[in-house]
This record gives sequence, structure tokens and C-alpha cells, in this order.
Amino acid sequence: MGLKPATNPDVEAVAIELSIDGKSVTARSGVSLYDVISSTGKIIPAMCYHYTFDPFGSCGMCLVMQEGKKAPVRSCTAKAAAGMIIKTDGDELFQARKKAVEKHLSVHPLDCPVCDADGHCELQDMAFQHGVTNLANAKQKFIPEDTRSPVLDFNMNRCIACAECINVCKDVLMIDALQFMKKGGFNQVVPKGDLALSCEFCGDCLAVCPVGAITNKFSKYLYKPWQMKKTTTTCNYCGDGCQMYLETKDAEVVRVTSPLSWKNKWGDRAETAKGHGGLCVRGRFGFEYIDSAARLKQPLLRKGNQLVETPWLETMHQVVDRFSEIQRKNGPDAIAGLITARCTNEELYLFQKLMRAGFRTNHFDSSARYGHLNFVHASRHALGIGRSPNDWEDLTRAKAVILIGSNITETNPLTAVRIKEAIRVYKAQVVVIDSAVTNMAKLASHPVLIKPGTEGLVIDGLIKATLELDLIDEDSTKKHPRAFEALKAAVAHVSLEQVAAQTGMSVESLKDTAAIFAEAARSIILCGEGIVRQPDGYQNVLKLIDLAWVTGKLGQPGCGVNTVTEEPNEQGAVDMGAAPEFLPGQASFNDQTARDRFAKAWDVTLPAAGSGANLVEILKRCRSGQIRALYVIGENPLATLPASMEVRAALDRLELLVVQDAFLTDTARMAHAVLPACTSAEKDGTFTNLEGRVLRVREAIDPIGESLPDWHIMTALANALGCQWAYESSNDIQAEIMKLLPGYYNLGQPRKVVPTVDRYLSNGYTTDVGARYRASAPADSKNRRPFALLMGQVLYHSGKLSTQAAGLITIAPNTGRLRMNPQDMERLAVGEGTTVRLTSDRGSMQLAVQPDQSIAPQTCFFPEHFNEPPVKDLMSVQVDPTTGVPTFKQTRVTIEKA
Ligand code: SF4
Ligand code: SF4
Ligand code: SF4
Ligand code: FES
Repeated sequence: MGLKPATNPDVEAVAIELSIDGKSVTARSGVSLYDVISSTGKIIPAMCYHYTFDPFGSCGMCLVMQEGKKAPVRSCTAKAAAGMIIKTDGDELFQARKKAVEKHLSVHPLDCPVCDADGHCELQDMAFQHGVTNLANAKQKFIPEDTRSPVLDFNMNRCIACAECINVCKDVLMIDALQFMKKGGFNQVVPKGDLALSCEFCGDCLAVCPVGAITNKFSKYLYKPWQMKKTTTTCNYCGDGCQMYLETKDAEVVRVTSPLSWKNKWGDRAETAKGHGGLCVRGRFGFEYIDSAARLKQPLLRKGNQLVETPWLETMHQVVDRFSEIQRKNGPDAIAGLITARCTNEELYLFQKLMRAGFRTNHFDSSARYGHLNFVHASRHALGIGRSPNDWEDLTRAKAVILIGSNITETNPLTAVRIKEAIRVYKAQVVVIDSAVTNMAKLASHPVLIKPGTEGLVIDGLIKATLELDLIDEDSTKKHPRAFEALKAAVAHVSLEQVAAQTGMSVESLKDTAAIFAEAARSIILCGEGIVRQPDGYQNVLKLIDLAWVTGKLGQPGCGVNTVTEEPNEQGAVDMGAAPEFLPGQASFNDQTARDRFAKAWDVTLPAAGSGANLVEILKRCRSGQIRALYVIGENPLATLPASMEVRAALDRLELLVVQDAFLTDTARMAHAVLPACTSAEKDGTFTNLEGRVLRVREAIDPIGESLPDWHIMTALANALGCQWAYESSNDIQAEIMKLLPGYYNLGQPRKVVPTVDRYLSNGYTTDVGARYRASAPADSKNRRPFALLMGQVLYHSGKLSTQAAGLITIAPNTGRLRMNPQDMERLAVGEGTTVRLTSDRGSMQLAVQPDQSIAPQTCFFPEHFNEPPVKDLMSVQVDPTTGVPTFKQTRVTIEKA
């Protein structure tokens, strides 16, 4: 893959001078001449060029005159050299470019009236710009359309063979799902091997196609570009926080596009380190949940055994009366709440304020409790910062990345693209440590397959190897000799050979990884669900911080310990104080100064310091009858948590269950009142992504039916409870947050956070450190059941929300099948579709199996998005004693032929 040298900012290139249209320009030798010209602000036609990948040089449009050459040269493939004299305009060039347009048009059907790209087509623009009015030798291609893909149609009659689609897929995404193939006398783009398209379905090829050769199946024939309203907003699926355009016609979302486009082809390659502007399949094709027929359009009130559509006023009266009565009779502690981290910052802020200032209770939690809080607590404890320190640019430009316990292509696909760029452009060494053969492992320099649940032991081994190989950074350790001695003592019992035997990561690999991390100038650790959503998540993050500390990687530019957030606003949920232990700004709920500040701002007495129940505790108290009313916004604990958590029993016992959601979820079906909420496409606000960027969410369509934004419903509820909230828009709430958390809304820019480890190392570390390295056996090692059952996310889905998006369900329906390694299937003599009995300590069920090469031997996998069959109920739950995070994504099972 030949990269233009000067587009890799790490490659040294000589500065040169050349002349462009009579002006002297300084550039780096070897860079594409096209880039140099566009850096002067001059945009010349270019139909096969895009700054995110290498020039291809097929369209013949970017012609310039170079002194000393008779014929025009293609500026995209020409490399800048000292002393060049370049002319970018002139009649000769105009005529040469016009000829190129005519050539393309002569084999292009003029079916613009029915083409999706009409009005958004570079060939149209070029024909117009060059006054092409007569096509003497036009030739039709008559190529049948390839409609086999679930999301994209390929109309190769319109293709101009620019290869942008192939290049973005191969270079930027490293997927390589497309190729040229000579068919019927023409070079056509076909899915690899001319089979049905099998890829990640991100649609980036569609985005860069300058004509209508690749079309979006969902929006075909539905619009003309000028009929569409384009709203810039933030994706509601994961913590990457991709920017997208929701394109709507009347009240309907027609398609999703993004900053990546052939229209946006002139840029600085170094800028792609911050993101290439594309989307993943969820963002681009997962929008149909917004106007799904299953959306709740009216409030529902339980009348007898039925939930009956009821006007807002009557429903709210009932809800307020019931809450007030329960509060009066049983006190505020009889009320609790749960909220999803798919809500905006403004709503999360308002939720905790409503609970604390309206209901006067501190019993509430958000979905950040499912794992992100393990990271936040560990990072705050050791480093004083409650989020990841590095942004996408740091990750892209890292020289060494340890990706541990994260199937990142599936959970955070665009953060994965940053690692791909780190590998491809910046030549980073990437160590992927996982118990599955992940997509990133296939691209990484150092893929390491480990036994499920042994991530913590691997970290022990990495620290031990770092000490044994003397890879320590003396400046860091000498400042804290006692802490360093304590760490050495804590890992004294760790033997690399034993770690290797227990984890499956060889001693050599442990040593290599330790050396790669310690020796690189910019080293990043990124941990995901295999750390934060597993037992000992909190301790394991602390161990990763130990590793970064002793190697001198804490607080160094471009270095740090990071995590990924699976829902769009888990970071915002924590920052806004939607957890009993935090006030907004992550101030401790027990910190008297902070308590005074918020009590004064809200003009209330806060619930007592030390009070507050988190998710697990709330469910327990519901079961015991201490909590009698539960207000659930966007969460669905019944469908999420395993049967052993006894959620149904907890909800059954409630005197009042109010569910506020866009859909009638399993939990909503048990409610006494259901309040229809808007999706993020129908409201304004902000999300905070995994880099700490605060990103705008904008209303693209009016609320569906009588649904309302969550902030609006909460405001109405609070006022009915006697609060005097005057919020009329999300902006009003934002204004309040701005006053209380100055600097939080640094829109679009990640707020820099600087870890400070010194306080912890000199105070508390020595007594703390032993516990996390106690000789622990890997989870479930005593269990005789031979298989590890894992539940997790797949690329095409996000929580349960995506299962409401018809497009995503078409791509990835629930097969109800257990995924297994083909060799294991062979050993058990089971074929695809064979029914097996799956048994854990929690129960047993029958389901069919399907082979999956990415599943490691001795493991099996079921997507967490589906509950048919209810595989989650086979899971046991472990609750982290420090953070209260319940983990239930892994257990041991036996598999027998049924
Ligand atoms: S949809 Fe994405 S993965 Fe599939 S071919 Fe296009 S660019 Fe490649
Ligand atoms: S399909 Fe579009 S992007 Fe791909 S080669 Fe053809 S015109 Fe170019
Ligand atoms: S799901 Fe995540 S990676 Fe995909 S488009 Fe949305 S924010 Fe980006
Ligand atoms: S842009 Fe240079 S040949 Fe197409």
C-alpha cells in the first residue's frame, strides 16, 4: 500500500519550493501535487480523488500544465518536486478536462431523472461546468443492477471506474470487500469474487461514490435532493459520537449521510487522525427505529389488566397522585429511578435533579452502571480523572496500542477505524488481547488469543514482565519508592510461566507486549467489555494504570489508559451526576462543599450524605418492599438482566411502576403507566462521547404521535410535584448546567484532562495495591463445565434499540442460534442447525448452533440483543464490591447434543 509520504505526518520530507499559477508555494517533497494545489485554496476538478486515501489517477480531470511537459499531467498522481512550475487554468486545460467528461458521459446512461444522485452528482456538475451538450458516440452498457446486498444496490451502468469505493473500503476501512472485474466489456465494481456483498455494510463506499452507481436501498426513489431537510446531529447508537446528517422529507427520515462524501474531498490527510467522517452500519442504516410503526404514540395507563391509551393530562394526574401518595405514606426513600445513557446530558442532569430535588431521594442509577462506572471509579481513584484521557487523534498517532478485552469493531466501529489508521498510516504496533478472534486481531501486529475471563491475569503477567525486563521508567518510580516497593511485593508471587499456563498468552508474548508498550514514545491502553463488564473490572483497570505508571506513560502526551463507551452518553450520565455517588461534575455526593453548592443552586435540602441505592440495591429494595415506586426512563431491566436478578419479582412487588420510553418494552408491559418519549431525532440536547467531546443532538423531525422529549416530561412531572422549573427548552437546562459546570460545554472539542497519580501513590497506594494482585484463579476455573458462554454486542446492533430498526434486523436477524467454533462442533458431532442442550449452574435450555470462525475453541457466543431463547438467564451475576457494577456476560456451560 504505497502511501503518499508527506501525508503521513510522521514521515520526514524535505521542504521544497514550487510555483503554482505564478505564486511561490512551499510544500513537502513527494506529496501529491493535487494536495499542494488544494492547500493554496485552489480547487480543480477531480473525480477519482479523495484525500482520505491514495490517489488512483483514473478520471483524467485533475489536469494541470507543468512547464517542460507537452501534455497536461494528472496532478493527483504527480508528486510535488522542487522548482516545478505549474499552471492550473487555461483554455487548453479546460478542453482537455471537457474531453475527459465527454468520455465518461459517452458510456453513462443519462437516467438522471430516476437516479438517486441527481443533483448530488459530480459527473453532472462537471458536465455542466464544462458545457458538455453533445455526445456523438454514446454507447449504452446494459448491465443488470446487482441488488443482492441488503443495503446497497450496484448500478454499474453509471460507474465511472474512479475506484473511490474500492479505495475507501480497502485503504481507510481495511475491509477490502470490493474489486474491479471486467464483465461484458466494461470494468465493473463487484463485491469480492462477484458474490453477494459480504462486509460491514458501513456505506462509506456509497458516501464517496461521485455518481449514482452505488445506491442506498432504503431511500431509493423516495426523494429528490432538494426536497430534503438536512439536520446535523450525533448518532444515538454508541459512544463514538459520530456526526451525521439526518435527511428528512416531511415527517419521514429518508436517509442518513455523513461528512464523508465525494463532495468533501479536499482536506489535509493529517486531519483524518481525528476521524474520517464516515459512519458504521448502525449509524447509516439503523435509523428506521425513529419512525417505526412500533413507536408509542399515546400515554398508556393500566386499567385492570390492560394498558389503555389515555390522554396525557389524565395519565400525568394519576402518575403524580400515585407518586405523591407513596412519598407521603412511606417517605422519599420509597421512590427510585433508572435512566438510560441514551438520554441527552440535559435530560440526565434533569433526571438526577428531579430525583434529588423533586422526589428527595438518592436512589437512582443509569446504564453507565453496567460497566463504564468500573472505569470511572478506578480512574478517579488513582488518577483523579473520571474518563479516558486520550482522544481519537492520540489513538491514531499512537506508536503502541494495547487493546485488551474489546471487540472494538463490533462495539465502537469508528474508534476501530482510528486503530486501523494507526496500523496503516502511522505503523503502530498493536497488541490485541482477547478471547475471541476479533476483526482487529486479524489486522494487528500482535494478535493474542487468551482464555475467556483471564484478562486480569494477563495484566499481572504484563506488569511482572515489565519488572523482570527492567522496562520501568525510573523518573516515575523513583518519585514514589514506597509505592514501587509495594507494587513489586504485590506481584512477587506472580510467575510468568503460571500466567501463561492459565491465560494461554505465552511468556514470550507477555514479554514482547510489555516491551512494545514500555519502549514506544506514545503508548495507549484501550480496554473494553472484557475488562469493565467483567468481574474485577475495577481492580483490573487499576492494574492497567499500574502498568502505565511504572512505564512512565501516565500524563505523557499521547499516552494513557482508556476505555470505550458502548452507549452514546455513558460518559455524560456520569458527568451529569446520574449516579447516587455523584453530583454533577462528578463531585462526590458526600462532599459537603459540593452538596452546599448544589443545594443552594436548586434551593433544596439534598438527601442525606451517604444515602443512595444503585441499580442492584434498588432492585433488592423493590423486592423487599422498601422501594414502592420506580420511575424508569429508557431502561429495560427485565430484558437486560438475568433471571437470577429476580427483576420480575422486584417489579411485581411495586405499587407504582412508571416507564417512559419510545417503545413498549418488556419492562413497560409491566408498568402502571407508560409515558411515550421521543427518540433523539425529535429533540435537542448534547451527548458526551468517549473522548469527552460534548456533541450536539438536534431535532430533525417533530415528535412522533403525542410523544414528548424526556426533559419535557420530567419538567412537567417536577412542576406537578411542586418544583418550580421554568425550562422551556433543552437550551434552558444547558444554561443552568453551564453555570454549575463552567467549561463543560466545550462543544466539539475534547476537554483535556490531566491524570495526577502522585496523590494516590503517596497516599493510600501501598495499602491498596496488594488486594488487586492476590493470587486469584481465573473466573469459574473450579467449574467443571468445559465451555465459556459469552454474551456481547455484535456490529449490527446496539442494546435492544437497534432491534427496532428494520434495516438492521434485515441484515442481522435473531437466528436464535448459539455461535460455536467449527472444530468444537465437529468434536461434538453437531452440524449447523443441530439442536444442543446448553447447561450452566443456573439452568438449561435447548437451542440450535451455527459455526463461527471468530469464536475461539472452547467458547460459544450469543448476541446480547436478543432474548429468544433467553440465554441471558443462564448467567450468574457478580456485583463489584467497590463500584456496584453487576457483571453477567460470561459463565461456564456444558453443551450436549439434544
Ligand atoms: S459498505 Fe463499507 S464495508 Fe461494505 S463495501 Fe462499502 S465501504 Fe466496504
Ligand atoms: S461505483 Fe462509484 S465510487 Fe465505485 S468506481 Fe464506480 S463510480 Fe467510482
Ligand atoms: S454506532 Fe457508533 S460508530 Fe456507528 S455511526 Fe453511530 S456513533 Fe458512529
Ligand atoms: S483526480 Fe486525478 S485522475 Fe482523477
